[in-house]
Amino acid sequence: MKKIVAAFVLSSLAGAVFAQQAIKPETMIKYRQSGYSFMSWNMGKIKANLEGNFNKEQVIAAANVVAATANSGIGMLFAPGTEKDIGDLKTRVKPELFQPQHLDKLKEVAGNFNREANELARVAATGDVAAIKVQFGKTGGTCKGCHDEFKKD
Ligand code: HEC
Repeated sequence: MKKIVAAFVLSSLAGAVFAQQAIKPETMIKYRQSGYSFMSWNMGKIKANLEGNFNKEQVIAAANVVAATANSGIGMLFAPGTEKDIGDLKTRVKPELFQPQHLDKLKEVAGNFNREANELARVAATGDVAAIKVQFGKTGGTCKGCHDEFKKD
């Protein structure tokens, strides 16, 4: 049993390494920044809807992007080699994100974000504006929760 588990862990790790080697570190940085920027645009759309004319379809579409970004495995784009600027390409990630002693914290803030983002998509589908407002606030709080720990200002 132990052997099977070990083999499984090894093969999934090997798979992860292999999948990541196909992408250059500078591309990973660009992808993750694009992902966060695109998600931010969609959060902004939800905010505008909550403050102005509420369009249910637009809010659902935007919330689905936020959830999909959370579910995309964006964490894979923080592979070794992406800790610092590469030439002119700047990254605002803090070194702590890559340090084992901060792994529990990273799991916590990333887990919070995933949970709330998926809940946002679920609540958006109901069209209940008051509930969406509450869940939007919770989701935004999880962005900040990670940024405070792992993103430079
Ligand atoms: C688990 C951690 C984490 C979560 C959750 C998170 N972010 Fe970030 N975010 C980062 C890190 C790290 C960077 C810096 C990336 C870099 O520069 O390489 C970043 C960068 C950004 C950027 C700048 C992108 C750029 O072009 O440089 C924006 C905008 C952003 N995040 C918005 C959001 C929003 C909105 C949410 C929530 C809906 C969110 N983030 C959730 C960690 C997180």
